[in-house]
Amino acid sequence: MVTLVGMQANFEDAIKDLIELDYDAVEAYDAAINRLKNQEYKEKLNIFKADHEWHIQEFTNVLKKRNIQPPSGPSIGKQWLAKGKVVLADLIGDNVILRAMISNEIDTNAAYERMSLREDMWPETKDLIKRGLEDEKRHKKWLENTILEESTV
Ligand SMILES: [Fe+2]
Ligand SMILES: [Fe+2]
Repeated sequence: MVTLVGMQANFEDAIKDLIELDYDAVEAYDAAINRLKNQEYKEKLNIFKADHEWHIQEFTNVLKKRNIQPPSGPSIGKQWLAKGKVVLADLIGDNVILRAMISNEIDTNAAYERMSLREDMWPETKDLIKRGLEDEKRHKKWLENTILEESTV
């Protein structure tokens, strides 16, 4: 399922779904890191995974401060990412795995982009969403550049 994060009717629901999306991303990164052969790629993806964990932490704190129960893990049933952990677990070949992660980062970029444009945005999330979007852009760009290098070698 293509992610719909950012299109929810109210901002609270959108933030909750964004947290779930980041949980899905962490799981997808875990699966990808397990499958990758190249050590450099593994290390890089571990850093990106940590960014997603940081996003989860920050948005969770925002909800807690407003006395709203945050999601405690990936949603059951909803699959926010195009290539979730189940798909990743079956992939073979670094190039194939990195390509799948590009699909996922296209989803995260779209979600953060939509979140950044919402007019009902809570003021305390403005900087978090902006920095989160920058992280997601950086992840996608690195994956794209690395794929390009792989295919021209
Ligand atoms: Fe994120
Ligand atoms: Fe990302």
